[in-house]
Amino acid sequence: MNETTIVHYDVVDTIGVITIDNPPVNALGPGVREGIIDALEQGNADDGVQAFVLIGAGRNFIAGADIRQFGKTRPIGSVVSAAALDASSKPVVAAIHGYALGGGLEHALACHYRLAAPGAKVGLPEVTLGIVPGGGGTQRLTRLIGPEAALDMVVSGRHMGAAEALKLGLLDAIVDEPDLRGAAIRHARSIASARPLPRARDRQNWNEADTAPAVFEARRKALTRKSRHLKAPFKAVDCIEAAVRHSFDDGLAFEQQAFSELEQGAEAKGLRYAFFAEREAAKIPGVQASADLAPVASAAVIGAGTMGSGIAIAYADAGIPVKLLEISPDALERGKARVRDTYATRVKRGSLTQQAMDACLDRIGFVQRYEDIADCDAVVEAVFERMDVKHDVFSKLDAVMKPGALLLTNSSALDIDEIASATRRPQDVAGAHFFAPANVMKLCEVVRGNGTAPDTLLRTMKMGRAMGKVCAVAGSCDGFVANRSRAPMMSEMMIMLEEGATPQQIDRVMTDFGYPMGPFAVNDLSGLDVSYEGRKRRAEANPDYRKLHVPDRLVEMGRLGQKTGAGWYRYEPGDRTPHPDAAVLGVIGAVARELGTAQREFTDTEILHRVLLASVNEACKILEDGKAYRASDIDVMWLYGFGFPRHRGGLMFWADTVGAKDVHAQITEWAQRYGSRWTPSRLLGDIAASGSLLRDATGGTHQKATP
Ligand code: COA
Repeated sequence: MNETTIVHYDVVDTIGVITIDNPPVNALGPGVREGIIDALEQGNADDGVQAFVLIGAGRNFIAGADIRQFGKTRPIGSVVSAAALDASSKPVVAAIHGYALGGGLEHALACHYRLAAPGAKVGLPEVTLGIVPGGGGTQRLTRLIGPEAALDMVVSGRHMGAAEALKLGLLDAIVDEPDLRGAAIRHARSIASARPLPRARDRQNWNEADTAPAVFEARRKALTRKSRHLKAPFKAVDCIEAAVRHSFDDGLAFEQQAFSELEQGAEAKGLRYAFFAEREAAKIPGVQASADLAPVASAAVIGAGTMGSGIAIAYADAGIPVKLLEISPDALERGKARVRDTYATRVKRGSLTQQAMDACLDRIGFVQRYEDIADCDAVVEAVFERMDVKHDVFSKLDAVMKPGALLLTNSSALDIDEIASATRRPQDVAGAHFFAPANVMKLCEVVRGNGTAPDTLLRTMKMGRAMGKVCAVAGSCDGFVANRSRAPMMSEMMIMLEEGATPQQIDRVMTDFGYPMGPFAVNDLSGLDVSYEGRKRRAEANPDYRKLHVPDRLVEMGRLGQKTGAGWYRYEPGDRTPHPDAAVLGVIGAVARELGTAQREFTDTEILHRVLLASVNEACKILEDGKAYRASDIDVMWLYGFGFPRHRGGLMFWADTVGAKDVHAQITEWAQRYGSRWTPSRLLGDIAASGSLLRDATGGTHQKATP
């Protein structure tokens, strides 16, 4: 594409209208910045033009720099085209609809006037990509809305609605009429001769107290608590401080420097990868999603336990009416109480108004009969994890649900085809595996059985997205993809305890790596009993199963985690702070003695590699078995299901930073030392030998057969 087709320039009644037309989101790809500059030059040289309008074609103004171009050399950056807008001798009116993000907002900020449609969203989300704005955004924004509001916006990277942006002075007006372009042209004519031109760079919207060093120090302190592993948010604070301390040009130079330092860094690379991995996960190879896939406008959940209630809340939060079904009146009452308590806690914390809670509760019906859910577009079963129980539920669903309803199971391990065999419509059956707490965790693993129709997968993913979830597809196998890939990490952690590592040390290594909490502390939160039954089941089924004696004993001692006041750590009543507990070290020591395992010291790197490489190997086996479409889908699952640090990209992206060859060599060595659980995956061997990247691997059978 060239600039003549991606930036249109027309003169309408003496107004030069510059239209960015670069689908899908009007990113500032090659030629766009140049096209803007050309149009400005043309209009400024034309006596028949009095002013300009800058607008986007399609659904957005400009969604920002083209993220695919980061890390590559660009002929010109946004700083140049923004300066051209700012320096235009004729006024420029930005007409914003849809998204004006990153470089998009920076261009709008460099215009002399900003109008927006009521639904427009603006933001500088660069920190979420590991960088800071590089087109003068931090400098113009701070001058326009003051440092405090600029800090809020830039450090969080959040999208802001038009009403809030108007209140802050970022926008001049909201245009409440369908023809934004026409309104902007009228506005441009009305201000065409007004001088001086209002330029954000000439503003200084603050008083002395707003710029005190303490304002910026407080931000840095808060960031040290929450985002100590990241560089970009700290740099963003520095840039905004530079805006209030220096001249515009010096501030701009400071911002440019910060931008270039970050752009090539590991954090930016990991975050860029995560951005695209997430979007890729929404696609099913070989299947084109049609735009008219029927949405899920009503849903039902079977089973009002913790999971079922959480899923019902997730629907209600997303504005989707839902019926929660329990046959036993007592269990239904408990479910009701659980749902109400969850909402009441949010109101108490101030994250929800009473009115919003009432609206959500109005969307949840509590029912006892299958007939009551028959007309729902989708149903998610969340009952006890046993095949006979699932069969009973699915045969009832088959009998009552309307044709075409999605029949979904929240099972975390059972075979989808076997579940589907209880129905006469296996094409409509899939897994919708939510992660606890289902109303909080963003991952929805969509599980494909052999009989599942592609449209069922696509509709389930569309439903998941409408619920605010990030979806990725898994094939049906024990533990599916997310839990199956994570299981070896969990086992290895436990086995390292027997060899002399401590829960505190492993937790510290993982939080230093970037996890918000260590895995043992998380296990205390979710409950040690959750995995206990599964281990027993696997040990019974497989005589070679490597038993994990330490967690088994803790469960048998009644140490189930925070809920019993003790698990991997000890807890004081009413306090969630984990305290190391000599009793746990006692259990570890006893198990080690019984097994005759010698205790030794571990380095942090050994711990990190032992836990993560165990999972990398399994992830390769999953791909080899054709149970995931792509390595990057596994990364998405780790990011959204397990809190893997986003700036590390994901499990497989991280493994590439170690290098496939070294990963393979290490796993081969551990296979010799520790036995068959470390047998290297064939796919890993192939990748190591070919020098390709682990993160680019695709699932074997999926390459050929579409589901
Ligand atoms: N650069 C390059 N590609 C981009 C892009 C950008 N800034 N923003 C979106 N895209 C691509 C996506 O990769 C996707 O491509 P695909 O269809 O090939 O997968 C397509 O545009 C649609 O994006 P998607 O996120 O699926 O659409 P959406 O309607 O759900 O969301 C946005 C739209 C703009 C909110 C979202 O895409 C977004 O947040 N983009 C990034 C904005 C940003 O951070 N800009 C600052 C860059 S410094």
